[in-house]
Formats: sequence, C-alpha cells, structure tokens
Amino acid sequence: MRVDELTAECVGALSESEPRLAVHTVLERAVTDRTFVESLGSPTPGLNVLHHAADLTVLNVVWPPLVSLFPHNHLMWAAIGIYGGREDNTFYRRQGRAIIASGGKELGEGDVLLLGDDAIHAVDNPVRAYTGAIHVYGGDFFATPRSQWDADTLKEAPYDIEAVREAFAAAERAVAANGAPRSTNARS
Ligand SMILES: [Fe+2]
Repeated sequence: MRVDELTAECVGALSESEPRLAVHTVLERAVTDRTFVESLGSPTPGLNVLHHAADLTVLNVVWPPLVSLFPHNHLMWAAIGIYGGREDNTFYRRQGRAIIASGGKELGEGDVLLLGDDAIHAVDNPVRAYTGAIHVYGGDFFATPRSQWDADTLKEAPYDIEAVREAFAAAERAVAANGAPRSTNARS
C-alpha cells in the first residue's frame, strides 16, 4: 500500500455502513506494511497532512521523544494506527464541569485504536525515540471548534492548534538539547 492508496481507501470507507470499522481494517493493513511505512519517507515531526476535507482528515503524526500533549477532544470519530514507536493514551470523561481520568491505552507498533465522537484524551510518547502514527478523523480536524484542557489544572479552553504546535516544538528543543534519540520506523 502507498500513501495515496491509504487515503483513497479511507475515503472509500466513508461509504461503508460502519466507516470507523472500515478505516480500522485499512489502518491495520497499512501500519504493518513495510512498503507503506517506507513510502512515508522521513516526515517532519508534528502534524503532516495526508488528506484534508470536510468529512475526513488523515494525518501522519510524528511525535518527538517524550512529548506530552494536554487533554483534548475531537468531536468526531477517530482511528489511530501506530507504525513506529509508542503512543500512550489517557482517557478522560466529563464529570459536571470538570474532567476526570478514566483509564488509558498504551499503543505500540501495529496497534490500531478507535475513538468515539465524545472521546477526550491526552497523548504521551513515553520513549526516547520518535513515534509515527496515522490518525484518521471523521470530519475536518482543523476547522471544527472543540476543547482542550490545561494539563495541570484541567481547566477547559477552546482548542488551539498553535498550542499543539508549541508542544511539539518544545519537545523538539529538548531533543536538540539532549542529543540524538533512538531511531524507529517513524524516523530512521
Ligand atoms: Fe487527539
């Protein structure tokens, strides 16, 4: 599978009766396919857009070593497939006006996770290596108004993509300060 085939199959999945499950199947194939991973090349850390439309967004997310991203929601279904490294998800649920942690899921290479429309999660890369993941969203990831929560106070605020980019940039500065990380499929 190549990148353009992945995005075409995700677009096709929207016509299925259960788009999320269809995307899950596509991602399971993609992230364990050496040809697909090699076709990604050596993407820059951060959010690399593979497909962006009103009904579907596909990102190649390259997490820097030890990056930690504050809780946030998407308000659309999502599917996450890991092709290199690890991605730890912490889930939250609303309780009154607050959110409380409600479990987690540690993802490794080859794993695929589905998230519902109302999911709230924080994401950590727990390893000193880049993590590579394909994130598929059932809507417009960039234009949909949603929420983020301060990592310390858990105070809700409007989602700010620039805060996300700053979290990645801070982790990259730490990489520059601490020396070269291990290589993974995400960056070799
Ligand atoms: Fe997310």
